[in-house]
Amino acid sequence: MTHQTIIVLDFGSQYTQLIARRLRELSVYSEVWPPNTPIETIRERAPAGIILSGGPKSVSDAGAPTCDPAVYDVGCPVLGICYGMQLMAHALGGRVEPAPQREYGHAQVRITAPAPLFADVPDEIRVWASHGDFVAAAPSGFSVVATSANAPVAAMAHPERHLYALLFHPEVVHTERGLAILRNFAYGVCGCTGDWTMASFVEEAIGRIRATVGGGRVVCALSGGVDSTVAALIIHRAVGDRLTCIFVDNGVLRLNEAAQIRRRFERLHLPLVFVDASALFLDRLAGVADPEAKRKAIGATFIEVFEAEAAKLGQVDFLAQGTLYPDVIESIPIVGQASMIKSHHNVGGLPERMRMRLVEPLRELFKDEVREVGRTLGLDEEFVVRQPFPGPGLAVRILGVVTPERLALLRRADAIVAEEVRRDGWYTRVWQSFAVLLPVQSVGVMGDERTYEYTAAIRAVESRDGMTADWARLPHDLLARISSRIVNEVKGINRIVYDISSKPPSTIEWE
Ligand code: XMP
Repeated sequence: MTHQTIIVLDFGSQYTQLIARRLRELSVYSEVWPPNTPIETIRERAPAGIILSGGPKSVSDAGAPTCDPAVYDVGCPVLGICYGMQLMAHALGGRVEPAPQREYGHAQVRITAPAPLFADVPDEIRVWASHGDFVAAAPSGFSVVATSANAPVAAMAHPERHLYALLFHPEVVHTERGLAILRNFAYGVCGCTGDWTMASFVEEAIGRIRATVGGGRVVCALSGGVDSTVAALIIHRAVGDRLTCIFVDNGVLRLNEAAQIRRRFERLHLPLVFVDASALFLDRLAGVADPEAKRKAIGATFIEVFEAEAAKLGQVDFLAQGTLYPDVIESIPIVGQASMIKSHHNVGGLPERMRMRLVEPLRELFKDEVREVGRTLGLDEEFVVRQPFPGPGLAVRILGVVTPERLALLRRADAIVAEEVRRDGWYTRVWQSFAVLLPVQSVGVMGDERTYEYTAAIRAVESRDGMTADWARLPHDLLARISSRIVNEVKGINRIVYDISSKPPSTIEWE
């Protein structure tokens, strides 16, 4: 079945996938395409609408990405967002200039004329803006429908030609009524009816996997988390026993986790090879204190173990990974675009080395969408709502060198956090909650004895997608219970602190 589709042309903004994701939230199917996609390809697809994304360049920059101007005459509505707006204005004879006052972050926009995009949206909204250029004069035939203090044209429209543009980002949660604006575009302007669901995502993913894999074999690296499990389940449905899953115990999992994971996979009937490589990993981590060096050591060891296991399977053509969109964006080192923050080991060098082609059915999805897919695949709710856990595991939550003793301390502290947070119903209200072991020893007193022991930090954050986060306002009573239980039950930790930083400027994990 073909769904009504809105094509998003990607001019390089870090928010491009968010546009597609918001449309999916609205049950509208959306695909992100390169900006230079030939116009015939776009026409053949007969989209219900086209969105031109934002991007980091100025339209006047040499090498600034553009699209075929025929896109404005395909016949379906076109919405330009930020750079997309500037491109539209530039292409159709408007004036784009560097703004005297750049707008980054919050801005106040006034809607000055009735417009279908702003149906049921108040006249004044706080929006998220991120631009150095602005549209000084709209192209002829367009009317200005919104302004802001620093931008005379914050939104413009040419209803007869079905062309619309916004200088701000409706896809970002910080834009008030942003989803309503996108809904107005998709439903009101493009005539979409919301004919797409996560179940259709699974069906389509299965079709795509079959087409790519043909009669080949697939190997999947399972991490034990929701993402790779969901990816494996979809692929298993697509190719059956031509899939083999490999789970590597890297020695930095949480308390009792390896055994639990193994039981779960067996229940799901996934074809599984379970490898206990914990001793090797701990050996490779010995003496390594630098965060990136730890991540690299774990990544390299993982590749080594995985390769050796995969080699035992004979000829395998495809490697499956549960890569999500935030993993992709935070690991792409492109200057001027999203720059690299941390090397996520699950997206690193494996496929190139093994000369395998990648199958990443979740590459465009965000975490909560993957959970939704997991539910449609019949995964149990307790597992589906499991908080994310990083590939490099507890190694990035033990600051400084990782030793078996420190691991034992953190495992027990972390288990107490999980237990207490669950007991109080906060486990699913926060994005993540965990303990971090700091290489800081301080003086305490227990009984009449002086102690000189480690500090644990408690980190709990709220987030929609892991890309931004705020520290969770856990009740003081809960924090008090966590603190006293850890100090009483985990000998070696005598002080607990609570991390009250948001992302940005901090990250969620400490390393
Ligand atoms: P940060 O610490 O970058 O984390 O704010 C964002 C989200 O990603 C998770 N994370 C990882 N996940 N492999 C993963 O699969 C990794 O190497 C990795 N590093 C961080 C982190 O737990 C948070 O949810």
